[in-house]
Amino acid sequence: MSAVFNFTFVPWFRSVAPYIHLHRGKTFVVGIAGEAIAAGKLPHLAQDLALIQSMGVKIVLVHGFRPQVNEQLAAKGHQAKYSHGMRITDTVALDCAQEAAGQLRYEIEAAFSQGLPNTPMAGSTVRVISGNFITARPVGVVDGVDFKHSGMVRKVDTAGIKRTLDFGAMVLLSPFGFSPTGEAFNLTMEEVATSVAIELQADKLIFLTEIPGIRTSPDQPESEDNPIDTELPLAAAEKLLAQLPNPLQPTDTAFYLQHCVKACKSGVERSHILPFAVDGSLLLEIYVHDGIGTMVIDEKLESLREATADDVGGILQLIEPFEKDGTLVKRDRTEIERDADHYTVIEHDGVIFGCAALYPYPEAKTAEMAALTVSPHSQSQGDGERILKRIEQRARLAGLDSIFVLTTRTMHWFIKRGFVQADPEWLPEARKRKYNINRKSQVLVKKLS
Ligand SMILES: CC(C)(COP(=O)(O)OP(=O)(O)OC[C@H]1O[C@@H](n2cnc3c(N)ncnc32)[C@H](O)[C@@H]1OP(=O)(O)O)[C@@H](O)C(=O)NCCC(=O)NCCS
Repeated sequence: MSAVFNFTFVPWFRSVAPYIHLHRGKTFVVGIAGEAIAAGKLPHLAQDLALIQSMGVKIVLVHGFRPQVNEQLAAKGHQAKYSHGMRITDTVALDCAQEAAGQLRYEIEAAFSQGLPNTPMAGSTVRVISGNFITARPVGVVDGVDFKHSGMVRKVDTAGIKRTLDFGAMVLLSPFGFSPTGEAFNLTMEEVATSVAIELQADKLIFLTEIPGIRTSPDQPESEDNPIDTELPLAAAEKLLAQLPNPLQPTDTAFYLQHCVKACKSGVERSHILPFAVDGSLLLEIYVHDGIGTMVIDEKLESLREATADDVGGILQLIEPFEKDGTLVKRDRTEIERDADHYTVIEHDGVIFGCAALYPYPEAKTAEMAALTVSPHSQSQGDGERILKRIEQRARLAGLDSIFVLTTRTMHWFIKRGFVQADPEWLPEARKRKYNINRKSQVLVKKLS
């Protein structure tokens, strides 16, 4: 085996370990658009899901079947009918939906049954269990349109799903529900996945979709300056949703976003929109720090906010011990008072327990993140990272390309979060003049995608 392989594989594998530990025992609801299956992505998706499950994640899989139903309808010479962005399920469409769901269920069960030697599925034993876990009610007549056999989720059998997950199986749900009178209703994958995630209070709701995620300027075309927003705080997602027109197509920005927002508002902390077109997108989102799609996150915004002059006392109290032991450079009160609006703080019950400041150097399209601190009692709960993300967001909004830090003791923390070492010569001229040679701080830079 080549030494280069050892050199790359071992650190890479170790870098994934924290995420494996983090997600073990968690519950993820994964909604796969029918388009993903139509595009032939099922074998790889099954491999990735089997791998994720083998690392201790409990998975509820909900499949969509929009193109498959339309194909069946076309074969019968019928046209798909929609209104308000929803299918009108007449008797023929219901028949087609039942046929499509049956066929897809077989295909999915078959994909999880693979196990040829020397394939990623070798040795995997995934039990896929489906069932009548969803009770539905009819959509009824909306604005004079009769939706017939189209339904909405009325109840989720959470106890039944949890028992099945605890038994070690993967739960597979088709977008169907049944009424107490035994009638079948055609539901949408997105609604089923969202309702199940909320009822289970799942740790993640993940949609594998035909879109790559939400762009930082959603109304602008794809470009290098308009990348995918990898993290959208719930409040920002709600604001964006309020500005968008009602979605009619899955490719409309609000289509998946509305479900992510709903889930997040109802206690599912993280909801993701991922592209199925990218091979391994699930693995990239779950086990890599920056992820690949858009994650809507309920980060309890009331606690993470920009600072005001009233916070100066709290900030000083927080950073003082670290100034004393030399971890941070000493700043005086007047400087912090003057720069209060440069700070982002995390507050709980009126106590500030985390902060960082952002000092832009617009002429060099970069900014320094300074005084990143989390109170010793609150460390290792992800707050340092939450502050970093917010600072990155502020820098991005200011149109900057990178942020940098000067550190003497915390290099590894930053390197793990995408910073790379740079020569002090790299610093913007104005900052270089203030660089203290004796302190020998390392310069670390993170490019903002
Ligand atoms: C660096 C700091 C802000 C991180 O805050 P946090 O809320 O604990 O960060 P997170 O919870 O997101 O990350 C915690 C992880 O970072 C690790 N970590 C903490 N300090 C570290 C350091 N100096 N070097 C490398 N890793 C470190 C923890 O061990 C923990 O790892 P684990 O999750 O495997 O247990 C916090 O430790 C701190 O305030 N340090 C003192 C001030 C400081 O050094 N600031 C940087 C100035 S440039």
